[in-house]
Amino acid sequence: MSKAQVSLRKKDILGLETMSSPEINLILDTAKEMKNIIDRDIKKAPTLRGKSIINLFFENSTRTRTSFELAGKYLGADVVNISASSSSVAKGESLRDTLLTVEAMGVDIIVMRHEAEGSAQYAANVVKPVLINAGDGAHEHPSQGLLDMFTIKQYKRKIDGLKVAIVGDILHSRVARSNIWGLMKMGAEVHVAGPQTLLPRDIEQVGVKVHNRIEEALDQADVINVLRIQRERQKKGLFPSAREYARIFGVNAKRLALAKPDALLLHPGPMNRGLEIAPDIAYSEQSAIQEQVKNGLAVRMALLFLVLMGGIQIEAAN
Ligand code: CP
Repeated sequence: MSKAQVSLRKKDILGLETMSSPEINLILDTAKEMKNIIDRDIKKAPTLRGKSIINLFFENSTRTRTSFELAGKYLGADVVNISASSSSVAKGESLRDTLLTVEAMGVDIIVMRHEAEGSAQYAANVVKPVLINAGDGAHEHPSQGLLDMFTIKQYKRKIDGLKVAIVGDILHSRVARSNIWGLMKMGAEVHVAGPQTLLPRDIEQVGVKVHNRIEEALDQADVINVLRIQRERQKKGLFPSAREYARIFGVNAKRLALAKPDALLLHPGPMNRGLEIAPDIAYSEQSAIQEQVKNGLAVRMALLFLVLMGGIQIEAAN
């Protein structure tokens, strides 16, 4: 046996559409190691000491921003947060100038969330530091897709062959897109369901099964990923009322029972309780929503580690 270096093919983490299954496996395996650090009393590893990370958030966040911050700090890096509302963006500074300003400070990683689809790729073209996409409009949210797969693997021991139902506001969801790309690469059978007005046109062409009735998607599912209704991205009413949505598309105990008895319930958060998910199942025995948050930390530690350290050493057969 000799040692072989396994690493990510690209400098930046922009999305799962362009990530290979060996790369996804590398991140999930590394995240498993990182989770051991989170479970320690002293949550510190010096791996990224001397490195600096800027969290540049043009949209609100609780989970992603905080977990990237903690992930960087647990690995010994210096982490600074910039939110658009309290920065010079509020005075009219452009995205390009903001990125160049951050780059001039010599940072190693920029973690960016922005409302425009394609903004992560744009930023990666503008600046030299590693760019990690923390969500670009309705396009991709790769670290969320990865933490969802990590959580599925933790409970189900595999992803290949599972029926995964992604239900709700697919149209406006970057989480849905990253999940779909990632899960299909890992061999899952992906079903999506939602009102016709919240399903992207031609979504079936990417290889998912599409349902207008949520019951069909949930039938014998191994995993249910409930998406948030993204009112902030909806320009006009796309369903009659919250009450109607909950009645026809909300996931409740009765609908959850259509899935396999041990089906796993996921939600990326933040939840609209009583709209897309019934309050009594949100933290039920089948729910892994809190575990998703913890796993988000492990996955983001893995990403920061891999993009800066260039990969990991594995035993390789000669
Ligand atoms: N799931 C997710 O991205 O949550 P935040 O908006 O709180 O980061």
